[in-house]
Amino acid sequence: MTLLKPVSAERLPDLLKRMPKAELHMHIEGSLEPELMFALAARNGLSVPYADVQALRRAYVFGNLQEFLDVYHEGTLVLCTEQDFYDMAWAYLQRAAADHVLHTEIFFDTQTHTGHGVSADVVINGLHRACLDAQGQLGVSASLILCFLRHLSEAEAFEALEQATPHLDKLVGVGLASSELGHPPEKFTRVFANARVLGLHLVAHAGEEGPPAYIWSALDALKVERIDHGVQAMKDPALVERLAKDQIPLTVCPLSNLKLRVFPTLATHNLGQMLDAGLVATVNSDDPAYFGGYINENFTQTFAALQLGAQHGYQLASNSFEASFIDKTAKLALQHRLDEFFETFE
Ligand code: HPA
Ligand code: ZN
Repeated sequence: MTLLKPVSAERLPDLLKRMPKAELHMHIEGSLEPELMFALAARNGLSVPYADVQALRRAYVFGNLQEFLDVYHEGTLVLCTEQDFYDMAWAYLQRAAADHVLHTEIFFDTQTHTGHGVSADVVINGLHRACLDAQGQLGVSASLILCFLRHLSEAEAFEALEQATPHLDKLVGVGLASSELGHPPEKFTRVFANARVLGLHLVAHAGEEGPPAYIWSALDALKVERIDHGVQAMKDPALVERLAKDQIPLTVCPLSNLKLRVFPTLATHNLGQMLDAGLVATVNSDDPAYFGGYINENFTQTFAALQLGAQHGYQLASNSFEASFIDKTAKLALQHRLDEFFETFE
């Protein structure tokens, strides 16, 4: 990359918003806005246990990951039909397009939904149809990553993988989500090995609340290609060295970390230190309907709090394309669009 033209502090938010980018860490169930939640509940003859949208939003105050997951799980109960999953994903994809996301790899899980009687087929078919329409109508490429729920058993993860196997062509990878503490990655070593044999890419949440040891085992036992969150890695210099040497991408979610109290303030977030250490960090929204913002909000708030500049923006966007699971030619094309944007930005 050539040297960037200077960008004033006033112009920086606009640059960050319009900059081409990829999003690699966003749980589709976490994009379900209260308005749509109420609408889907009404359509399905269900009720939401809050008086209205405002009351629901007021409940979005969390002390830690588990407190969030409990509320998040309640929200998923309104999702019943293939159309519900389509509508939820389509709403996110339109938001992503508005934020100049050119490519997104969407997390979803089936275990939450099969747990209350909705089949994996319904979930995957609805989400996949929205991904196809995103390419056709929005020019956004979108793929799906099936997350296993780590608080459930290995046998249940195997079952989820088996139910998804008829839909392999609709998936790009598997991941690992839900309650981290007390559920180290190695519990799922055999499931991830099977997913790898099926040709799927591998990622896992590690080092969000959990210790650096969970990042080591995600790498060495699960053999993941990216780490989701990974912010706790900075406590372990040998791990930082490993992540830098192997250029393992980290999908960082600053507003999530703030809302789940991983960091007390955005100004104390370690994203800048990660970049300084040569890590392939990216910025993502995690669960935007719950954490107060989509990807551009994550960029602008974090850059303001940490006093990052245009060069960091370029690096993070470039990392997002590099870290994605698209082929080499598509990566080059996206990098080219990024370079062109920075060269012509006024
Ligand atoms: N961490 C773990 N599991 C999740 C998250 C998260 O931030 N969001 C949705 N499922
Ligand atoms: Zn997540």
